[in-house]
Amino acid sequence: MRAVDIIRAKRDGDALSREAIDAFVAGVTSGSWPDYQVSALLMAIVLKGMNAVETSWLTDAMVRSGDRVNLRHIPGIKVGKHSTGGVGDKVSIILAPLAAACGVTVPKMSGRGLGHTGGTLDKLESIPGFRVALSLDEYITQLAEIGCCLISQTATIAPADKALYALRDVTGTIESLPLIASSIMSKKLAEGSEALVLDVKCGRGAFMHRPADARALARSMVSIGTAAGVRTECLITQMDVPLGHAVGNALEIAECIEVLRGQGPADLIELVVRLGSRMVRLAKKAATDEESAALVRHALSSGAALARFRLMVARQGGDPAVVDDPSRLPSARLKHVMTAPRRGVVTALDALLVGRAAVALGAGRDKKGDEVDLSAGIVLLKKPQDEVAAGEPVMELHYNDPSRLAGALPLVTQAMVIGDQPPATQPLVLGWVHDSGETMFVVS
Ligand code: URA
Repeated sequence: MRAVDIIRAKRDGDALSREAIDAFVAGVTSGSWPDYQVSALLMAIVLKGMNAVETSWLTDAMVRSGDRVNLRHIPGIKVGKHSTGGVGDKVSIILAPLAAACGVTVPKMSGRGLGHTGGTLDKLESIPGFRVALSLDEYITQLAEIGCCLISQTATIAPADKALYALRDVTGTIESLPLIASSIMSKKLAEGSEALVLDVKCGRGAFMHRPADARALARSMVSIGTAAGVRTECLITQMDVPLGHAVGNALEIAECIEVLRGQGPADLIELVVRLGSRMVRLAKKAATDEESAALVRHALSSGAALARFRLMVARQGGDPAVVDDPSRLPSARLKHVMTAPRRGVVTALDALLVGRAAVALGAGRDKKGDEVDLSAGIVLLKKPQDEVAAGEPVMELHYNDPSRLAGALPLVTQAMVIGDQPPATQPLVLGWVHDSGETMFVVS
């Protein structure tokens, strides 16, 4: 099929045939479609959309563009986890060893920071020595032996997505529901998961700002997973406010260790327990929701999850002593303490602005290939609902390059709003979408 005919068909709003979608993905993978034709079709998809069947064919073709890891020789149901990305979202780093400590095997290939959102790989690399670039053989062996492994997408996993993603990033074609859903699901299906728990972030600091859009993305991913024979469910969770207190790579690893020690911020613990319980249930390691939540909480309080994390760090070449002594993580030379300009209560803390401020301090990338400062970031000492006195510290900004502070200060100043009345409380979990129905706790 000629590329130009496929582009024209989508431009005119037609649904693409399976043959057309296969030709497109094959052309992207082999490089036989030039970038201008790939970009033209991507833009046509952004503008005209794709129906559920087209989206599932696109996902399937992207999975088939590379290897699909087979983990069937490992006993039990392998349960993957993915977040669509947020600020302070370090949940995967806690959940992989935690679920493994509950008897679940957790295949997990992760990504780097994207825009104002952090990435699991950058965070892990703040652990001295930690290797994320394992071979597929090392990945499979480690999963069989300790039940968890956090690595980067290998070259042979969904290579079509890799090529498409790089083009989408620079052609204004990231924001498309079928493209996001197929991009995420192609990697999840290829990494060897037999069931999936997805965290669809919703709010100011997420790609999806409105619950209705987050629900549509969740529905699409559940339908793709179900069509591929992988039981998939999504929690839709709030991302108006950063998760936990730490934003920035090494700072977030220290917070992960706190939670794995049975301590840490309440919102982060709540989300870890909610997602972890679903993973345990999908792996059929507990018969009821209460039983699975109890298993997860016990793995945290008993030290079993922390022990599995230490093992994973050591297996991937990292310094396991950081687990007992997080001061071994890289720390910034300079710290600016921001104080409250008035007495009152924190009414808002904008995740997008906090994320951008962390990037301004060096914790993320301005452009592809930029070096990340692993020790830079922000510690949120106060969050919505907290009372503050005038002059009380509310945030710490950690950085090494003095020229970076000026870029971050206006962002954090604008991010935190202090008022007189506490804000209405917002649930952390806004909805739950799965293969036999959905519940939305917040709709708009
Ligand atoms: N994450 C992905 O992997 N792909 C997208 O398209 C967006 C977020």
